[in-house]
Amino acid sequence: MAGFIERAGLNVLFRFDPETAHRLAIRGLSLGITKAPPPPPNLRTRVLGLDFPSPIGLAAGFDKNAEAVDGLLRLGFGFVEVGTVTPLPQAGNPKPRMFRLEADEAIINRLGFNNDGAETIAARLAARKPGGIVGVNLGANRASADRIADYVAGVDRFARIASYLVLNISSPNTPGLRGLQEAESFEALLLRAVAARDEAANGGTTTPLLVKIAPDLDDGALEAIARITVSSGIDGVVVGNTTLARTGLTDGRRAAEAGGLSGRPLFQRATIMLARLRKLIGPGLPLIGVGGVDTAEAALTKLLAGADLVQVYTGMIYRGHGIAARINARLAQLLAERDFASPEDAVGRETDRWAAMPLPG
Ligand SMILES: Cc1cc2nc3c(=O)[nH]c(=O)nc-3n(C[C@H](O)[C@H](O)[C@H](O)COP(=O)(O)O)c2cc1C
Repeated sequence: MAGFIERAGLNVLFRFDPETAHRLAIRGLSLGITKAPPPPPNLRTRVLGLDFPSPIGLAAGFDKNAEAVDGLLRLGFGFVEVGTVTPLPQAGNPKPRMFRLEADEAIINRLGFNNDGAETIAARLAARKPGGIVGVNLGANRASADRIADYVAGVDRFARIASYLVLNISSPNTPGLRGLQEAESFEALLLRAVAARDEAANGGTTTPLLVKIAPDLDDGALEAIARITVSSGIDGVVVGNTTLARTGLTDGRRAAEAGGLSGRPLFQRATIMLARLRKLIGPGLPLIGVGGVDTAEAALTKLLAGADLVQVYTGMIYRGHGIAARINARLAQLLAERDFASPEDAVGRETDRWAAMPLPG
């Protein structure tokens, strides 16, 4: 559990509306005052050709503009994913557009890719001292006439700055964006993005390229995604984004807000989707499991269901900035208790069980 100071900090932040609280948190974290102990050595894991000090990372959307990367890494996260970044800056949807469902430890957001744009964010990342694993999550501008071209531009701009890249085609808050998950568009996007990534490497080391999908896909769509993912030369999949589902919520008033739901109520759905994708693609291709993780037990479950790496977002809002360090310490114990020498040993041990579960709702 969070300590006294952390709980007091959360109480103060929860008095502000969610976006103001978020801005204050980013401001505080950018000062980089808190420093967690380094993750225990048995959490080290090699995925995507990168050496992660911990498999627990911060999911995209928290530090959209790369303003607090070093402060966030110092909290004990094994990696931080910034963005979503679009080629041009954009303001996003009208406010209010972010809602806390406190009884459910959930958030509904319809921010709509508010961000400073690729040039500003690339300059910010290029100015920091190298160190730590920093992924860049890429998106398309709402008004773009050629969305695939926006992703290609993002790959061009960030391939030599980012530790890894993610094509985010699963935000529910940019109308039509999720259509890029349909087989034909999905294949066109992946092929063009892989080509751009390879070209940027210019014969040198290529930057790992992943795609982030929704947890709301039916079996047919997931099968097509698995098939095209494997044939396209892409390096991994992030499963997944926020959900449009509203099952298991006690806060009926907030549940009616439009947008994507994240946090505890997403855990079951996102973990089942992760396991189903793992089963379809087999071992080997890296998967990042994200959705509803707020404890080491939940993080271990993601590994067992088939994730190589795990990300957290909403869990940090409700449990505080110490969450990464707490998950690290306890996950190291849980792995040792089961005689797993490293996170890799746990990956996929319970894929079949999770893949067979019915989706909630
Ligand atoms: C306020 C908010 C903003 C988000 N913005 C982004 C984003 O810009 N890009 C993205 O890929 N995911 C975004 N996400 C989704 C998270 O990265 C994550 O996939 C999702 O919240 C599920 O994880 P969680 O239950 O741990 O929060 C956002 C989530 C929240 C709550």
